[in-house]
Amino acid sequence: MNIILLGPPGAGKGTQSDYLRDTFKLTKLATGDMLRAAVAAGTELGLQAKQVMAEGKLVSDDIMIGIIRDAISDQNCPNGFILDGFPRTTAQAEALDVMLAEVGKKLDFVIELKVDDAEMVNRISGRFSCKQCGAGYHDTFKQPAKAGVCDSCGGTEFSRREDDRAETVAKRLEAYHAQTAPVAGYYAKTGTLKGVDGMAEIGEVTKSLEKILGEKKAA
Ligand code: AP5
Repeated sequence: MNIILLGPPGAGKGTQSDYLRDTFKLTKLATGDMLRAAVAAGTELGLQAKQVMAEGKLVSDDIMIGIIRDAISDQNCPNGFILDGFPRTTAQAEALDVMLAEVGKKLDFVIELKVDDAEMVNRISGRFSCKQCGAGYHDTFKQPAKAGVCDSCGGTEFSRREDDRAETVAKRLEAYHAQTAPVAGYYAKTGTLKGVDGMAEIGEVTKSLEKILGEKKAA
């Protein structure tokens, strides 16, 4: 099963794609996570991406398409993939179509998390994640069961993203509306797009996604 999750910064793509990865045994391909790993490792890609991300802008299509081309192979995604953060421009969506045709794959679901921009700043400013395993939390909406201890791995150190400062979030939202919102229109034309109310409580959003994905759950 191959899925794209669309939505602006803070819509819940990462939160929901973690759940779908674990439940449906999919490979999660989150381009933001890949770029942050490259920045942390100081690779050439990381050096190119660091400043662009800090400014809330998009990394170039050529770089992003190259990353995903390598990632969607059968070897890397034996049960299918969930794309979180890609495609982010119409050019990336068109390139993905070509790549999928080349490897004989197709998209099963493109799901847009529909949210209000104003609330996204609150969501992003309260976000933090486990330094050890990357599990995501929120100061108000998703706290660890035991304060200061990661539910997933027991880690006790957490971090906040550099691009989650309010002024950068505003720039990321601008980039979303200018460059990424048209991607939903691209998939609406092909009839693959479905919308979900991303303003609902986290568990309710998950239920809406499960309803769409239906009975394809892995054994
Ligand atoms: P990326 O890492 O992809 O960031 P993003 O798209 O801006 O999305 P976020 O990770 O901020 O939000 P999310 O939707 O995953 O929300 P989350 O689940 O964490 O990209 C970062 C940067 O990398 C880009 O700006 C760009 O520079 C570059 N980049 C990446 N891909 C690229 C590409 N393809 N092309 C070019 N450049 C690219 O939720 C947010 C918070 O809210 C969490 O704390 C969560 O607990 C909470 N929450 C989630 N759902 C709910 C809910 N329903 N109710 C209440 N709280 C909730």
